Amino acid sequence: MSRILVFGCTSAIAIEAARTWASRKERLFLVARDPQKLQVLAGDLRARGATQVETLVMDALDFDRHPSLLETAEQALGGPIDRVLVAHGVLSDEARGRADYGAAERDLKVNFLSVVSILTPIANTFEARKQGVIAVIGSVAGDRGRQSNYLYGTSKAAVATFLQGLRNRLWKSGVAVVTIKPGFVDTPMTAHLQKSPLFASPQKVGRGIVRAMDRRRDVVYLPAFWRPILLAVIHIPEALFKKMSL
Ligand SMILES: NC(=O)c1ccc[n+]([C@@H]2O[C@H](COP(=O)([O-])OP(=O)(O)OC[C@H]3O[C@@H](n4cnc5c(N)ncnc54)[C@H](OP(=O)(O)O)[C@@H]3O)[C@@H](O)[C@H]2O)c1
Repeated sequence: MSRILVFGCTSAIAIEAARTWASRKERLFLVARDPQKLQVLAGDLRARGATQVETLVMDALDFDRHPSLLETAEQALGGPIDRVLVAHGVLSDEARGRADYGAAERDLKVNFLSVVSILTPIANTFEARKQGVIAVIGSVAGDRGRQSNYLYGTSKAAVATFLQGLRNRLWKSGVAVVTIKPGFVDTPMTAHLQKSPLFASPQKVGRGIVRAMDRRRDVVYLPAFWRPILLAVIHIPEALFKKMSL
């Protein structure tokens, strides 16, 4: 049985991963900023079979609380955490971010800097213990900057590079670092977007995250068809790409 720590667990994608873990009777420590959603989710996961569910209300921007989170979770669950999933994120309002640096900075803090701050002490502890799996939800948007979403894409690219370095550092200690790159997923984050066949369900992506963490994968595109699409996109020459309306 695993002890699993989930940040941003009220995300539609993270809920589906947590439901899979609950059906496997895992022990879960859930962190999110909305106390009501958190309580409803905890009840749902207990009803689905989780052996133990504990919760903590925290905004990801509450950086001062990050250093003590792992210890808090381990005390609550009564033993060492094996797996960590970081799921929180915001889809930047690109127009607002272009007009107002403060808005852009806030999104970068949520999507990138909070991830670094949360994972720094956890990575050090897992490295010393020589075990653990760390996964973060990035995005295909981080693979190439486009005019329509380059602020969001920048934050996800930064996450991917941070995780790449962390993976390179931690593999010799037996710690797996998994970068999750979903394409479009039908969640509250994309509620305002017109749906197309490219959209996946949060159930499919949530289950894919659990599988990727079980298999200690390095980088996973979800669904998998995004890998060849992004491979093609990143190889378009910049001289041509800059003229495209994407
Ligand atoms: N949906 C997509 O198409 C898509 C594609 C690629 C990657 N992703 C990534 O997948 C992850 C999950 O997103 P989702 O699609 O499941 O959307 P979602 O349901 O809207 O989830 C976003 C989550 O982030 C949390 N959050 C935002 N700001 C926060 C803050 N300051 N402190 C704490 N929590 C905060 C939200 O909390 P509240 O519940 O309190 O609002 C919510 O739980 C994100 O990292 C997103 O960037 C999504």
